Amino acid sequence: MLFPDYRPRRLRANTNFRRMIRETRLSCDDLILPLFAVEGKDVKKPIESMPGHFHLSCDQIVKKAKEACDAGVPAIILFGLPDKKDELATRAYAKDAIVQKAIRAVKENVPDITVITDVCLCAYTDHGHCGVVENGIIDNDASLDLLARTALSHVQAGADMVAPSDMMDGRVAEIRQTLDEEGFSQIPIMSYAVKYASAFYGPFRQAADSAPQFGDRKTYQMDPGNSDEAIREATMDIEEGADIIMVKPALSYLDIIYRLKQEIDLPIAAYNVSGEYSIMKAGELMGWVDAKKMIMETLLSIKRAGADIILTYSAIDAARELNA
Ligand code: PBG
Repeated sequence: MLFPDYRPRRLRANTNFRRMIRETRLSCDDLILPLFAVEGKDVKKPIESMPGHFHLSCDQIVKKAKEACDAGVPAIILFGLPDKKDELATRAYAKDAIVQKAIRAVKENVPDITVITDVCLCAYTDHGHCGVVENGIIDNDASLDLLARTALSHVQAGADMVAPSDMMDGRVAEIRQTLDEEGFSQIPIMSYAVKYASAFYGPFRQAADSAPQFGDRKTYQMDPGNSDEAIREATMDIEEGADIIMVKPALSYLDIIYRLKQEIDLPIAAYNVSGEYSIMKAGELMGWVDAKKMIMETLLSIKRAGADIILTYSAIDAARELNA
């Protein structure tokens, strides 16, 4: 295939040629929209660090879920901001807590959208860590029961899938066992299996009020330099019963997505995280970039790397663009 016999430009010459030979296609089917639930009524408070996103009370969550559903987005993932935080994250697993209420509201009013929940303790603990703290250390095994209780309470409220994001060792097995024992063996687990200690979560931590009050998350989230370890983490979670393996963040970790797609045999999800969203929105507000086009190109690149599913704050806009 050498010039002048082969001329790659021939098949780039018009839209139809390009359509016909396009290798990767993004679809609204690929997208999951994250939403932030707060107590109250008729609350729609802009999240400063994430233009276009809001703290939403349950009635407003329902509205957004309906909007997403109408745009063709198959699923939302819910995060909650509790009314109070404490040492043991009790508002993460209480029956009447914010995420549990939001799940019920969406399932009742928008039955066609799939409700996934983020299972973690960081937004519910007063110290902001993803597990229980003992003597300044995040205690792995003591956290497992609380995580499993949180997942169970979500499922009892009607969640269709749970997504543990805490990065404690063994939590997928613990959640799987609890769900099975309680009669929820059909509920899938999407594990944040390969989650890096990343600066790209900054805007989210403002949005979810979940920044650690001391230290950082490096003792449980992965070191950004590691790739073999991603395979170990994913393999472990598969053995523990995960149904979908997530890589997070997405853009600085496309090589990890690609590698997992080659080496493991489960659907791969990628989280196009808050920092990735906010820098593009900021660029747009400055008038420097065409964020809409950048977002579509970004999502396509995540899919091309190997992701089957993409969690993205741009899900509604992207779905509308794809179906226009
Ligand atoms: C909770 C959690 C985080 C995100 C998803 N679940 C934050 C963190 O680990 O600090 C980040 C999402 C984003 O940045 O968009 N553990």
